[in-house]
Amino acid sequence: MVKAKDGTRIRIRALQPEDEDGLKRFYGRLSQSTMFLRFGRHKESVSEEWIERLIGMNHNGNIAVAAIGDASHDEILGIAAVVFDEKRRRGETSVLVADQSQGKGIGRIVLEHAVSLARERGMESLWALIDVENTPARNLAKKLGFVSASPPAFGQQEFELRF
Ligand SMILES: CC(C)(COP(=O)(O)OP(=O)(O)OC[C@H]1O[C@@H](n2cnc3c(N)ncnc32)[C@H](O)[C@@H]1OP(=O)(O)O)[C@@H](O)C(=O)NCCC(=O)NCCS
Repeated sequence: MVKAKDGTRIRIRALQPEDEDGLKRFYGRLSQSTMFLRFGRHKESVSEEWIERLIGMNHNGNIAVAAIGDASHDEILGIAAVVFDEKRRRGETSVLVADQSQGKGIGRIVLEHAVSLARERGMESLWALIDVENTPARNLAKKLGFVSASPPAFGQQEFELRF
């Protein structure tokens, strides 16, 4: 159990098949701008396949973890995921926090957990493609030790964390 900046008690755990409805609620409440920042394009909603992929993702070296609000009946407040590329021993990293829970330290907590798991499992590096105007995500990545790995191109820039 960890505390967010506003005192909210949260716990971090792997996403699991039972999270299907919780994930649908989580994505269903996201603002258009948060969806845009996560997916890099306008997107009204995520597909059933997307949810199924996330809840079944903790296999083959992949990582999908959630920050769960303790006082709110297992409500998902944020998620972080790493898609493992076995050949290159590196993982593509993403993080997403519900609008009303942003700015409370939850993105950092859930991403740090995913990064620790990736390190423990022997990945050599993590990478993320981040919009050049996405200051919160860029700052968060830098706080965790990611550095820019390419010049900006088409409004996005690759960040990398080498273990
Ligand atoms: C990026 C995101 C995950 C950050 O999560 P969060 O819970 O709001 O961030 P935290 O409160 O944990 O903040 C961690 C750090 O991020 C940076 N940050 C967060 N919000 C920020 C803001 N509004 N402006 C500037 N920096 C910000 C800060 O460096 C902060 O550290 P600090 O609190 O010591 O200053 C969240 O804003 C989000 O879900 N955005 C939409 C999806 C997205 O952009 N995902 C990343 C691309 S995959």
